[in-house]
Amino acid sequence: MNIVFLGLPGTGKGTQAEELSRELNIPHIATGDIFRQAISRGTELGKKAKNYLDSGELVPDEVTCGMVKERLAEGDTKSGFILDGFPRNIAQAEALDKIMEELGKKLEKVIFFSAPEEVLTQRLSGRRVCSECGATYHIEFNPPSSEGICDRCGGKLIQREDDREETVIHRLKVNRDKTQQLVDYYDKQGKIVTINADKSLEQVRKQLKEAVVSQ
Ligand code: AP5
Ligand code: MG
Ligand code: ZN
Repeated sequence: MNIVFLGLPGTGKGTQAEELSRELNIPHIATGDIFRQAISRGTELGKKAKNYLDSGELVPDEVTCGMVKERLAEGDTKSGFILDGFPRNIAQAEALDKIMEELGKKLEKVIFFSAPEEVLTQRLSGRRVCSECGATYHIEFNPPSSEGICDRCGGKLIQREDDREETVIHRLKVNRDKTQQLVDYYDKQGKIVTINADKSLEQVRKQLKEAVVSQ
């Protein structure tokens, strides 16, 4: 199944995608994760992307679309993928339609994670991520068993650079209108399934499962 996860920062796309990808045995492709990995490795892509991520701006489409095209052409997407954080604007959505056509694939569903912005600032300010394996936690809503340490690999938990309060506010502003335009775009294609992301992790997971199996 070829799925896009759409939603403002902090709605829980990454958290839910990680699990669903394991369950469906399809890759979780997150553009933000690809950029962060490139930055930590110091590659050319990382150098191009760093200032945009730090300030919460979008990386230019010409960098992002080419990268997604290459990634979707890899063999592990044969039985499907979860694309998390792409597209982020109409130009990227149109680019994705073209990429899918060229690869002979079809986008089946766009899951829209909907939640009020007050909830999102609270989630992002308490988020911690593993510096080794990338696992995501929340100091209150999804804490690790011992503070500051990843349950999965023992790595050190850190705060993302762009989760500082001023940057969070800016990221919401950058993405607000664009996200709504994408909801309309995919609604016209009959692909949108909206889930209420302002629920517990467990309840969101349940809605997501229903969304994925529904026709
Ligand atoms: P990206 O990494 O995609 O960040 P984002 O879109 O801002 O989304 P987040 O990862 O912050 O939120 P999420 O929905 O994954 O939430 P999570 O599951 O972690 O992008 C980063 C940057 O890269 C962009 O700003 C841009 O510069 C660049 N970029 C990426 N894609 C691009 C593109 N296509 N074009 C151009 N530039 C691009 O959850 C958040 C927290 O809440 C966690 O602590 C979690 O534990 C907790 N939580 C999750 N669900 C629940 C729940 N139900 N109840 C309580 N807590 C919860
Ligand atoms: Mg994420
Ligand atoms: Zn870890």
